[in-house]
Amino acid sequence: MRRAVCPGSFDPVTLGHLDVIGRAARLFDEVVVAVGGNPAKVGLFHPVERVEMLRAATADLPNVVVERFSGLLVEYCAERGAQAVVKGVRSTADVDHELTMSQMNASLSGLETVWLPTAPRWSFVSSSLVREVALLGGDVAAFLPPGVAEATARRVAERLRGADE
Ligand code: PNS
Repeated sequence: MRRAVCPGSFDPVTLGHLDVIGRAARLFDEVVVAVGGNPAKVGLFHPVERVEMLRAATADLPNVVVERFSGLLVEYCAERGAQAVVKGVRSTADVDHELTMSQMNASLSGLETVWLPTAPRWSFVSSSLVREVALLGGDVAAFLPPGVAEATARRVAERLRGADE
């Protein structure tokens, strides 16, 4: 069984992420989407909510499972019996960032990383830009799975109400 881990913060999961996860699911027998990131960092969604949203968004992909992870990615991949990490790359800036992480992970445990070029239509989409645009009142629905777009609109409205109080 060829198993890949697709790690990320997914705050929130975008249609770019889903494109990469779907393509990884066609390349590997099983894909474990691993929701990590810095727990101290205040994001838009709690990791538990991100896992729920990812499970809903990947419900049509029978060989995709979604879990939280913490600690070293190489250790998590070893525990899950994964042969590779899959990452989407949007730009040369992503390559610069991802290259050293891939090389460090390969050096730590021999873990391979497979890069999938992001589909051009999503190459400018990132969770951080989606959060910024949404919190400034912009419409981000075109970049998100429908349930995630609704949850994002609700969360932004809550944040803005909280900021007024
Ligand atoms: O979506 P993000 O924020 O780019 O995801 C980052 C994530 C969670 C994939 C990255 O921070 C990570 O791999 N964390 C695990 C910690 C680790 O192993 N660090 C060393 C990597 S060389």
